[in-house]
Amino acid sequence: MLVGKDVSHSFQTTRVLNGVSASIAAGEAVALVGPSGSGKTTLLYCLAGLIQPEGGTVAFQGRSLAGMGDDERSELRRTSFGFIFQSSELVPELTIAENISLPLELLKVPRGERQERVGNLLDRLGLAELADRRPARVSGGQAQRAAVARAVVHRPAVVFADEPTGALDSANGAVVIDLLWELAREQNSAVVLVTHDHSLARSADRAIALRDGALHGSEPVAPGSAEK
Ligand SMILES: Nc1ncnc2c1ncn2[C@@H]1O[C@H](COP(=O)(O)OP(=O)(O)OP(=O)(O)O)[C@@H](O)[C@H]1O
Ligand SMILES: [Mg+2]
Repeated sequence: MLVGKDVSHSFQTTRVLNGVSASIAAGEAVALVGPSGSGKTTLLYCLAGLIQPEGGTVAFQGRSLAGMGDDERSELRRTSFGFIFQSSELVPELTIAENISLPLELLKVPRGERQERVGNLLDRLGLAELADRRPARVSGGQAQRAAVARAVVHRPAVVFADEPTGALDSANGAVVIDLLWELAREQNSAVVLVTHDHSLARSADRAIALRDGALHGSEPVAPGSAEK
């Protein structure tokens, strides 16, 4: 469904991705692992169409991202992708519920349906009582759960998550990721999760490992170990 072939990229004169090929199947949960500076964020951004790679191609459902115009690529991101970053990057002026609703508003989903989907997620994620608070007044774990809700609310084909639990302790991090896997699986969204945490990586279907901008292995997780 999402296929990167020979993806290469440089910043200034430094090559940071060197011919990486990786495909993500519909509904698949993939962990992207590797040392700091190995190119994980850069690869994630290339796959998500946020960076145009210098070399190679990225195609979503058979269509090359490079072949689209900027507007078309933005539209694809709005409709088919969801994003979670390290610190939640919720909009500070909006409430938790309004933040979660934002992708649906951009897609002009009618208000009744927005309220239903957001309410449902708030309940599922244990955030119902915080619906009307602003992000500054909730905990880090609560903000990241809201960020998960915002990333899945429009049922995207792919959720891209870059160290979404980097700022949380391991217990809170595991809660956030378990919710992400659970919601993604229910709606058949694929997930590409960048993580340093080996136990989180093991809960994916498969791990892609990068080292120095190149693939360093891509293995199925041993059967039975996948809690997903
Ligand atoms: N905007 C940028 N300008 C210049 N160099 C960059 C830029 N973004 C990343 N780099 C460099 O590219 C390399 C890969 O960076 P990237 O952020 O993809 O690594 P990473 O694997 O995500 O690391 P981390 O685990 O620390 O987040 C690093 O050497 C980094 O310094
Ligand atoms: Mg990174």
